[in-house]
Amino acid sequence: MTRASRHVTLASRPNGAPVEENFDIVEVEVAAPAEGEIVVANRFMSVDPYMRGRMNDVKSYVPSFQIGAPLEGGAVGEVIESNAPDVAVGDHVVHGLGWREIAVLPASHAQPAAKVEGVALSANLGVLGMPGMTAYAGLLDVASFNEGDAVFVSGAAGAVGSLVGQLAKLKDASLVIGSAGSDEKVAWLTEELGYDTAFNYRNGAVAKQLFAAAPHGIDVYFDNVGGDHLQAALHALNVHGRVALCGAISMYNNTEPAPGPEQPEPGHWEAAQHAGLHRERPRTHARRLRSRGRRLAR
Ligand SMILES: NC(=O)c1ccc[n+]([C@@H]2O[C@H](COP(=O)([O-])OP(=O)(O)OC[C@H]3O[C@@H](n4cnc5c(N)ncnc54)[C@H](OP(=O)(O)O)[C@@H]3O)[C@@H](O)[C@H]2O)c1
Repeated sequence: MTRASRHVTLASRPNGAPVEENFDIVEVEVAAPAEGEIVVANRFMSVDPYMRGRMNDVKSYVPSFQIGAPLEGGAVGEVIESNAPDVAVGDHVVHGLGWREIAVLPASHAQPAAKVEGVALSANLGVLGMPGMTAYAGLLDVASFNEGDAVFVSGAAGAVGSLVGQLAKLKDASLVIGSAGSDEKVAWLTEELGYDTAFNYRNGAVAKQLFAAAPHGIDVYFDNVGGDHLQAALHALNVHGRVALCGAISMYNNTEPAPGPEQPEPGHWEAAQHAGLHRERPRTHARRLRSRGRRLAR
């Protein structure tokens, strides 16, 4: 049986921030499932920052989206037809063919959705899915978080950042600082998520606000933003500080290089993640932080 489905396709490649004209919505007939395939009615799809990179025609760790073809990305949905022995109609699955109402795919490309009492199905695209894994592995593995660390998280109110701060608190960080782009988000971080302190990066220089929040420096920086945030965090790092270079969203729409450390290539990220970034003696470091604080306070 064939079905009609609306698909979102890439009409043209964005130059800078994506605009509506870069996308089309087309109605297509989806084919009946072949042997081993399932048909999924998508209930939720995720719109993730990495998708911006896939809209460019460049070589990367994932293929670019193609003009005229539907976009792809994480989705969770209900199986409405199955030609695969292990998947039944009514099952909920997570897969990579979002941006369309109905997806037809090999059952081997889908995984059962996690079901947790009282938790929405959409959490499979959040805390129970890729952002949750990113936050967990980024903080505990890549940044080698230790109890008592002071942690700074940029993009702190986003899907990943909001989880990093909560995990750090659960794991007994001494201080968890977040930055976000509105006063409402800042209030959400401190009043609901348990961040110790947070600041709005639009209210002043990041370096100055970070120094005010962490005058004794930070041990871990979880970078979702890059640019001025990464620059400020590198200056605030304590001896043996660690950085998880998770993303650099402030640069994804850039058409020209921006001030601050350049967005590292994936190979550099891995190297940087494992490198000790500071070799200063503690006293030298404390002196540097104090003098930087004095400069910023002027
Ligand atoms: N390495 C990996 O495996 C992996 C996996 C997932 C995500 N990531 C990366 O992690 C980061 C966060 O992803 P996410 O899923 O949490 O995204 P998200 O939920 O979409 O949140 C991203 C947030 O970034 C902030 N932002 C946007 N432009 C900004 C700018 N110019 N300067 C500062 N903040 C800006 C926005 O919040 P405000 O309103 O607060 O500005 C936005 O809500 C991204 O860089 C992404 O590429 C990496």
